[in-house]
Amino acid sequence: MAEISDLATDESNLIKALQLEQRQEGYISDEAIKSISEHFDMAPVEVEGVVSFYTQFKRVKPGDYQIQVCDGTACHIKGSSLVLGWISDELGIEPGETDEEGVFSLEAVACLGCCSLAPVVSINGKVYGNLTREKIMDILDDYREREAAK
Ligand code: FES
Repeated sequence: MAEISDLATDESNLIKALQLEQRQEGYISDEAIKSISEHFDMAPVEVEGVVSFYTQFKRVKPGDYQIQVCDGTACHIKGSSLVLGWISDELGIEPGETDEEGVFSLEAVACLGCCSLAPVVSINGKVYGNLTREKIMDILDDYREREAAK
């Protein structure tokens, strides 16, 4: 597997290094910012600036179950903000956060490509549609049971 240390220290490789880190670790940690900035001989704040500019990079370690609430147009019309609020209240986390146990993380995303099922949520890539409050609570309970059975 490719390593950041294999990349030439030319700054044009910075995005490649960040993508590599995110693919391997799921996010860009403080330690990664430090080691990447050292590799490219840049100030950590400059690397941090690049990371925050691109939405593809996450600064928070994702949970075991990554919940993406679609906020595309069709889902928005069908109440995606309610769905986001139900999940947020239930888990006690805001979009962009991971719970303290590292089990669930939550984010709002653009169209997931299955608008006919709006409102839609994806959990680790599995899509759930036509959501109601009851449905989403059942789904979260199911994932909690899976976690407890680990
Ligand atoms: S708008 Fe939500 S899946 Fe397309």
